[in-house]
Amino acid sequence: MKAHERLIVALDVKGPDEARTLVAKIGAYAGVWKIGLELLFSGGAELARELSAQGQKVFVDAKLLDISNTVERATANIAAMGAAFLTIHGHDIKTLKSAVAGRGDAPLKLFAVTVLTSLNAADLAEQGIDESPADLALRRAELAKKSGFDGVIASGHEAASIREATGDDFLIVTPGIRPAGADADDQARVMTPTKAIRAGADYLVVGRPITQATDPGAAARAIVEEIEQALV
Ligand code: C5P
Repeated sequence: MKAHERLIVALDVKGPDEARTLVAKIGAYAGVWKIGLELLFSGGAELARELSAQGQKVFVDAKLLDISNTVERATANIAAMGAAFLTIHGHDIKTLKSAVAGRGDAPLKLFAVTVLTSLNAADLAEQGIDESPADLALRRAELAKKSGFDGVIASGHEAASIREATGDDFLIVTPGIRPAGADADDQARVMTPTKAIRAGADYLVVGRPITQATDPGAAARAIVEEIEQALV
């Protein structure tokens, strides 16, 4: 996989027009366009179809979690949109297996959200979960692999242990990426592109450091160059 194919740009903007402008500015410096919940409900689903039809890779960050029948049918519909990546909450095997069933033979990669990076040990305790976020993320990554998922979403801090436990062909997608010296925004545990790639991440999700840069294309190019260097 080439360096630029590993860069996922989070199109966290209000509407499809702003997103289209960013896609045009960043162009071939990104491999995948991530459409999350904000944009999905303001025309993002149509944009996902449009970009997929143009041959672009689209990541539908829908973070599904529901009863089996609903997850299976929703996954089938997202696969039919032409999406390349989809996220499902990785809490239980029934949800994971229904997403795998819904995908069928479509070329849609399924990623489990292990533990949201906004949650700490006290938040898990409140849910009756007695494990640390890192242990829970690892256990859920193993569950996702066993269920036939392609990979997980995990912070750079958990990437190395997940890589060790799940082997080389299980994909790790890492958000919370900040080039050295960049503003962390609301991300608590950030990592540079170099460190995340070296920790075992296959794909990096980058939002604001690119989308809010004066020159988004140049910001994306700089990150791709850093990924290239880290892979050497
Ligand atoms: O702007 P920034 O680079 O922080 O954007 C990160 C993107 O990754 C956002 O779209 C956010 O929703 C997503 N994400 C995250 N942490 C997770 C899962 C997804 O930051 N654990």
